[in-house]
Amino acid sequence: MKRIGALFTVLALTLGASLGLAAKPVVIKFSFVTTLNTPKGKAAQALKAYIEEKSGGTMKVELYPSSQLYKDNAEGLNALIFNNIQLLVPSATKLKGYNPAFQFVDMPYLFKDTEHFKRFTQSEAAKKLLNSLDKAGLVGLGFWPNGFVHFTANKPLRKPEDFKGLKFRTQTSGVLEAMMKALGATAVPLAFSEVYQALQQGVVDGQENTLSNIYTQRYYEVQKYLSLTRHHRLDYVVITNKIFLNSLTPEQKKIFLEGIAHANEVAFAEAEKLNQDALNKLRDLMEVVELTDAEREALAEALKPVYDQYGDKVGWDLINAIKALR
Ligand code: LMR
Repeated sequence: MKRIGALFTVLALTLGASLGLAAKPVVIKFSFVTTLNTPKGKAAQALKAYIEEKSGGTMKVELYPSSQLYKDNAEGLNALIFNNIQLLVPSATKLKGYNPAFQFVDMPYLFKDTEHFKRFTQSEAAKKLLNSLDKAGLVGLGFWPNGFVHFTANKPLRKPEDFKGLKFRTQTSGVLEAMMKALGATAVPLAFSEVYQALQQGVVDGQENTLSNIYTQRYYEVQKYLSLTRHHRLDYVVITNKIFLNSLTPEQKKIFLEGIAHANEVAFAEAEKLNQDALNKLRDLMEVVELTDAEREALAEALKPVYDQYGDKVGWDLINAIKALR
């Protein structure tokens, strides 16, 4: 009986395929600039496993890490709008063109810790930010954490004076430009994929990023010092586009959104651990400069002009809502 059943299945599949009836899987292309061994990469792998399993393989998630598809998140954004890819998780500041408030992550010493950032992601203020992407044909699905940003350079950086005259690679952000200026330094905006070479060739003197990004991009090969300044955060916004979302059946949409929710949990479970692991490894590869609370306070004081310049643009309502969640 079993054998006859199996024969029927094979016949049905062969016939279906020859008539072109075999349904093509829904493909979700997800491009990102970091490696797989980062908070974003881990969450991406969890998303892929969840969606492919729950859909019985009728939905596929194709991961393109390490800038292999698009050199920067900014290029990825255009591809997402035109539905050439279906998922992008850019660092929040890269969405400032749609809403300058997304530069909130760059504001100096605004967040206390990752738990604080998590509380923010569950707030009304966060929902309002996600909804603001609607007019661009984008759908904000949530936030993933990475962590605090620290400086690397070929000299130890502790005091505001130490930054004078240096050039630092930053993401493209008015807030980060103002930050460097407040320290007497210059911001040089470059794509993530270009940073290593720029450090190696001396185009810039240093850079700022999270510990997991510093480790996985091997900046320790071209920078001597890591200064644990934790002066702002680098976190992500999970976005898809309306063309793709509207093309899904209700069942597919359910699986997709559940997959995103699952990946959000993985991102929060992994981010701190990966950054801590990276720091442990970096201790053997670079000189790690620990700052005292007083030294961090002196940096925060020197960075206050950034709030005068960008408080209105980022929005005091948002900044105060974040502060209230400390
Ligand atoms: C950067 O450009 O430094 C970040 O956007 C990289 C990342 O973590 O996506």
